Amino acid sequence: MSTAEPIIIVGGGIAGIATALAAAPAPVLLLTRAPGARGAASLLAQGGIAAAIGPGDTPADHARDTCEAGSHHNDPAIVDLLTRSAVDAVHWLQELGVAFDCAADGSLALGREGGHDRPRIVHAGGDATGAKVMEALVAAARASGHITRRAGVEVDGLLLGDDRACGVAFSNADGSREQARGRAVVLATGGIGALFAQTSNPPDADGSGLALALAVGAKLRDLEFVQFHPTALMLPGLHSLPLVTEALRGAGAHLHDSKGRRLMEGVHPLGDLAPRDIVARQVWQACQRGGAVLDARVVGSAFAEKFPTVLRACLDHGIDPRVQPIPVVPAAHFHMGGIATDADCRTSLPGLHAVGEVACNGVHGANRLASNSLLEGLVFGRRLGLRLRDQAAGEAPAGADGIERLRPPALDAQALVGLRALMASAMGPLRDGVTLQAALADVETLAAAGWQGGVAKVLVAAALARRGSLGAHYRSDAPSA
Ligand code: SIN
Repeated sequence: MSTAEPIIIVGGGIAGIATALAAAPAPVLLLTRAPGARGAASLLAQGGIAAAIGPGDTPADHARDTCEAGSHHNDPAIVDLLTRSAVDAVHWLQELGVAFDCAADGSLALGREGGHDRPRIVHAGGDATGAKVMEALVAAARASGHITRRAGVEVDGLLLGDDRACGVAFSNADGSREQARGRAVVLATGGIGALFAQTSNPPDADGSGLALALAVGAKLRDLEFVQFHPTALMLPGLHSLPLVTEALRGAGAHLHDSKGRRLMEGVHPLGDLAPRDIVARQVWQACQRGGAVLDARVVGSAFAEKFPTVLRACLDHGIDPRVQPIPVVPAAHFHMGGIATDADCRTSLPGLHAVGEVACNGVHGANRLASNSLLEGLVFGRRLGLRLRDQAAGEAPAGADGIERLRPPALDAQALVGLRALMASAMGPLRDGVTLQAALADVETLAAAGWQGGVAKVLVAAALARRGSLGAHYRSDAPSA
């Protein structure tokens, strides 16, 4: 290994690009499936960035809400790091040109979402925060001389030398194969929502990074904790569903069942703004009984300015949320589990790092607090980039030969549809041992056929192993365990 070898980053969402930018001037090779930020869940994020920026708010208050939402399965030291770094992360984005929405007096406008005890969320372009942030980050990356970007590649293996990661193997769109050697490898491949029948994620959030980690035996953790967003737009037959942001409930919208009854009344003191797992279960059960709607008519004429993304998605499907309730359904949204990392994004395999949703450092516990995910990508991505920049010259050399460890081939399209249906029925907001046991037998067969099956298998096994309910992992056969 020489210091001229780049830091290889797989994935172009917020965590990958924040890492790449912070690593300057060390050379970075950024490998992505799609150009720009296309394919990254960060681009679709409607929630904003949580930061204790308002009068009287403190990182400790933000940390308390993060741990409450996470059922105290969180690592308190990592939560502390996240919440203490949040204001600085917001200022860094402002320096890169992100124009956060302001109140009439010119201060940052703060929104409120589920699980927060007060308004604490900054937004840009109303509900278009992810798009605005990614626009600025991609522009900064394009203007940075130290980042080389290759889009249209599928990273399907890691290179190992002297028992450490020293590069990646990938295929190009024309089927040709290549290897790239690097002084460090960073997985920033996002989550797993696309392994479920209905998701708020883009199709590329398919667990590809977990499959790479499995191929090299890197440690995974907390895999059973999958967050379902309570309100995706209900569009039967579609896989990737538009999100109906929680900020609408922060602005006074309410959930109802098909008989018009308020769904969250008497369920939790925070009502419609209860932690996401609790709301998702209520909506899920209402959907089984005939349907659920979000009545956001209270937003009225402010929709176009504050929630342009939701308004457009609804109008595209013949629903006018200013005058009629929005049909909603829970959708797989965020994976709290992932590749086990420490506070510095190191995995159990030397040379391999993971950051953002693919990683699990314990910050989210058993259920992520709203608007902590863009924040996580920013805080830990910047931290990792700076460390790799400073460490670049000092790492131990890898062996001359990189041995390829490839993940298995992909499932065919039909098998993938079957896997998504299976995951939705067994690994949804309500789980039970009998269904999970039956699903395990099926995913074992699918694991022999393709890498997505291998990822599903470890998720189902983790859910079976946790016999009690905790956070987003709710077992109807052990509801209060
Ligand atoms: C939302 O806008 O409801 C999603 C925010 C998040 O996932 O943090």
